[in-house]
Order: sequence, then structure tokens, then C-alpha cells
Amino acid sequence: MTDLIRGITEADWPQVAALEAGAYADTALTEGEAALRSRAAAGTCFVLDLDGRIAGYVLALPYPMFRYPDLTRPERVTHRSANLHLHDLAVIGPLRRRGLGSRLVRHLTDAAGTRGFRTMSLIAVGGKEPFWRANGYRAHREARLPSGYGSDAVYMSARVAAYREAS
Ligand SMILES: CC(C)(COP(=O)(O)OP(=O)(O)OC[C@H]1O[C@@H](n2cnc3c(N)ncnc32)[C@H](O)[C@@H]1OP(=O)(O)O)[C@@H](O)C(=O)NCCC(=O)NCCS
Repeated sequence: MTDLIRGITEADWPQVAALEAGAYADTALTEGEAALRSRAAAGTCFVLDLDGRIAGYVLALPYPMFRYPDLTRPERVTHRSANLHLHDLAVIGPLRRRGLGSRLVRHLTDAAGTRGFRTMSLIAVGGKEPFWRANGYRAHREARLPSGYGSDAVYMSARVAAYREAS
């Protein structure tokens, strides 16, 4: 089995959307292909390709700190920001807890550093805050989030340089 993290391509989207639907099947967080595509910026979205099958993905786009996608509609404008917002990360169920999700995060963070982003942000959903803390993010509990992200959603951020120095 050979795996490879590479930039997302047009042909990947149906598999990425199917993976997303499966990953969030028990929640109200599924967005679908059109919304996901609208939140995918060039150069900051990657897939984990396992012998030609998509086993994971990470999607990120520039967004000013403490702002984030409105899950009720696709993105309408492209933001310019030194902050990169990690909108979504998923790995297929059978391959979780092997370090693949963290590898995708590291890969994205390296790309963020190369592209000059200073910070990264995300909204931890579904009780994943400990996973993100282990990956270098800290919570901003003061940040109020819309209910669409779920009642346990937490806004988190990390400095790209600090992450790179520690790894
Ligand atoms: C979040 C998600 C992407 C993590 O992917 P993953 O591949 O399981 O991530 P990792 O393996 O790097 O880390 C997951 C856990 O496995 C542990 N782990 C990593 N390698 C391991 C190994 N070899 N053996 C046992 N455990 C391991 C990590 O310590 C981590 O523990 P934690 O749950 O206490 O944080 C995955 O759970 C997922 O797709 N969830 C559904 C979508 C989702 O919730 N996305 C995040 C939205 S904020």
C-alpha cells in the first residue's frame, strides 16, 4: 500500500464529497460538494491518496482571524489574510488513529509556512478539541460561534512558525 499527500485536483471532488458525507453522517454538518468546493483555495487543499483512492482530505482558505465560513451558504468572496483557516479535515473511518489526520495537518502547515501565512485557525467540532490541542492549536473560548457548527464548537488558532519550530 502506498500513500501520498498531494494537492487536490478536479477529479478528486466526487470522492472528497462522499468522504465528507460519511464523516459527518451523524451530524448536521454535511455541506455537500458545491459548498466544499467554494471553500477550497488554490494551494492549500490536499488529499491523502492511497493507491488511487482518496482516504482523507484537508481543505483550507485564507480568512481573517475570528471570521469563518457561514455554513448556510457557499463562499461569495475571496479573502486576503495572513491567517489560513482550516475549514475541514477528514480521514475515512477504518484508517483513523494511525496518525494520518495529523500528517495531513503537518503537510498543510508546511504549505502555509511556504506561502507566507502567519497563523492558522479552525473550528473544532464534534468533540475534536483534544485532537487539535495535540496538534498545536489553542482554544479561544471567548469567540462566539453560530449554532450551525454545533453546540460544542470551539474556535482555535496556532502560529505557523511556532508549529514549524516544534516539529
Ligand atoms: C479528526 C480526524 C480527521 C482525525 O484523523 P486521524 O487520522 O484519526 O488522526 P490521528 O491518527 O492523527 O489522531 C487521532 C487520534 O489517534 C491517536 N493516534 C495517532 N496515531 C496512533 C497510533 N499509531 N495508534 C493509536 N492511536 C494513534 C492520536 O493520538 C489521536 O488521539 P486523540 O483522539 O486523543 O487526539 C478523524 O477523526 C475524522 O475524520 N473525523 C471525522 C471528521 C472530523 O471530525 N473532522 C474534524 C473536524 S474539526
